[in-house]
Parts: sequence; structure tokens; C-alpha cells
Amino acid sequence: MKKNVIIIGAGHAGIQAAASLREEGFEGSICIFSEDADFPYQKPPLSKGYLDGSQQKNSIMFRSEAWYENNQVELKLGELVVKVDISQKTVHATSGEYAFDFLVFATGAYNRELPIPIKGTDQPLYLRTMKDADCLKEALDQEGVQDILVIGGGFIGLEVAAYAAKSGKKVTVVEYQPRLMQRVLPPMLSEHFAAKHQAYGVDLRMGVGVQDLTQDSKWLASLSTGESVTADQVIVGIGVLPSQVLAQEAGIRCSNGIEVNAYCETSVAGIYAIGDCALHPNPFAKGQMVRLESVQNAVDQAKVIASTICGKPSSYHQCLGFGRTNITSNYKWPVYPKAMTNSSSEEM
Ligand code: NAI
Repeated sequence: MKKNVIIIGAGHAGIQAAASLREEGFEGSICIFSEDADFPYQKPPLSKGYLDGSQQKNSIMFRSEAWYENNQVELKLGELVVKVDISQKTVHATSGEYAFDFLVFATGAYNRELPIPIKGTDQPLYLRTMKDADCLKEALDQEGVQDILVIGGGFIGLEVAAYAAKSGKKVTVVEYQPRLMQRVLPPMLSEHFAAKHQAYGVDLRMGVGVQDLTQDSKWLASLSTGESVTADQVIVGIGVLPSQVLAQEAGIRCSNGIEVNAYCETSVAGIYAIGDCALHPNPFAKGQMVRLESVQNAVDQAKVIASTICGKPSSYHQCLGFGRTNITSNYKWPVYPKAMTNSSSEEM
């Protein structure tokens, strides 16, 4: 009997895993579960071309409907997997229970939320899904929305800031670290991007934290410097955390990511984890466990598991790329210096 593969997650890692399995000659059934009801799309354009309207929905889809049909890749969209049973080799989803021979976690990451008091009827905006991008665009394009506060000077924050500033808004970016995109860029490039944003009038506040947010007729953010910023909309992009709860609850070893070996296999045989959710031993980091948030890594690890499942074991040995998280198993999110917080143990 032919074996089957279930993939959880329809981002770069999940879709590439299905494609590579077929390219490697896998003949069994492949089923992808996606909590997101939208047809599988690429996320990087959401804060760029999709936000500014230069790229439409159709142009950011991974594959056409015909491709899934022709390659017999079943999509279960809007289907949340709620439990994985490793002894029975089943996944429990909203529509029922499904057996697997091989399981692939391509669950990605979820947005880190602002760990500060927020008072008001609305919530600040976050960006992760196509729906979030639609809401964000609608909110930013509203008449009368002029002052924008962006919390986090990373990928999301700066791309949204660029869109808002080019649309003529007054934008303030508050970044906790002393320079922009410190996670992935050397100082020279941080300076380059800072100068570019400042040339568009973006007010950059670096080495600064937001201590609380209050919404009345406008948002009011109290900063760790004692200053405050008012805004019509607040957008938060302060990083992500690996989506590993399902794996953890199933008894698969996790720390800051789902732990995998060089073949991207988890602590349970036949179950793999790839992409943003996977914590792998990287030979370029002296074998240290590393989690990478990058499209290239998702694609490379998907190819590794596809060839391994097809009986040609292949190990992951790419160098640390652009998306390095610096997150190892004992990584802690930065904590404000005492003087900048109300509580010494507050994690930011
Ligand atoms: P990020 O890690 O790129 O940036 C988060 C920034 O927020 C960091 O600079 C961090 O120092 C700062 N920060 C953290 N806590 C803060 C606080 N309390 N106050 C102020 N600043 C704080 O994460 P981001 O921008 O949220 O992006 C999420 C994920 O999406 C990342 O994995 C990123 O690589 C990915 N992405 C990729 C894109 C691509 O084109 N490939 C585009 C957009 C996002």
C-alpha cells in the first residue's frame, strides 16, 4: 500500500514540501491542512506590493488551482488541526480524524504581542495573514488617518512605515534596540535604511520602548524616555514566536522551536518540522541549534524532508542566511533596563 503524507501549514515550507515530494516521485496521497481559509499565498508581499496595491491576490499565490489538481495535492483550507496523536499516527482536525504515515510540521510562527497595558476599545494592528493586510490597508487608507505609530523597526514595521510615509502620513517608528533590523543586518545597513526612512520624513526613535498605550479619540503611547506620541493608528511588528504548541502537546521535543536533527526529523520518527517553526543543528553555527525565519530556509528544508521521505536521506547544511533569528534554545527576549520599566521583571 502507498504511504501518505500530511502537511500542517500552507506557507512556503508546506507548499514546497508537497511540490518536492512529487518531484522526487512520491506516489502516495499528500494532504495540506491550513488554518487560513485563503488559497495558499506568499507572505513577504503582504507588507510590500500587496499593501501598496501593485500586486493583486492572484499574483501572490504559490501555485494555480490546476497545479494542486494535476499533482493530486489535497488542500484542506480553513481547517485547524487541534491535536496530533503520535501513537495512533493521526491528526484531529475540525472536520475529523486523519491517519498519516509521515507528518510534516510546517506551522511557521505567530506574532509576538505587545506585553504592555493597552486601554481602549480597539486593539493595535498586526500583520501576518492576507486578511490582516486587507484590514491594515483599509485602516491606513481611511480619510482622517494621518498620524501613524509603528512599534518595531524590523521587516514588518519598516515596510509598513515606508508605505504610510509614501502615502503622505506622518510616521513615527519606535524600536527597542539601538538600531533598525539589528536581528538580521550589520550596522552599516541599519544606517542605510534609517537614512532612507528619514528622507521620507519618518521620525525614528531607537533604543526606546513603549510602556503603555491608551486610546481615547486618538492613541497615546507613553515611551520609556518619558515622552509620548499620539497616533490615529498603531501598527505592531515586534517579531514572531514559533508555532509549536501542537507538537509540544503531542510529546514531540520542543524548546524555542520544534527540535529536529540534520534530516529535519523531530524526536519522533516519521514526523518532520521545517521552516520558521524548526530548530535545527546548523553546521555553520558549530552545530548550535538555530531557528531561521527565512523563505530560503523553508524551501531548503522542504526539499530535505521530501528526499528523505522518498528514501534518499538528505541532510540540511545551508549556511546562516539573512533571516537568522539568533534564537537558540536558551534565548530570552530582551528585557528593558530597570530604569526604563515600571517592573524589573517586565519582559519586552
Ligand atoms: P523582526 O524580528 O524583523 O523585527 C521586530 C523588531 O521589533 C526588532 O527590531 C525588535 O528589536 C523590535 N522590538 C521587539 N520588541 C519591541 C518592543 N517591545 N518595542 C519596540 N520594538 C521592539 O519581526 P517582524 O518585523 O515582526 O517580522 C515578523 C516576521 O516576518 C519575521 O520573521 C520576518 O523575517 C518576516 N518578514 C519577512 C519578510 C520578507 O520579505 N521575507 C517581510 C516581512 C516580514
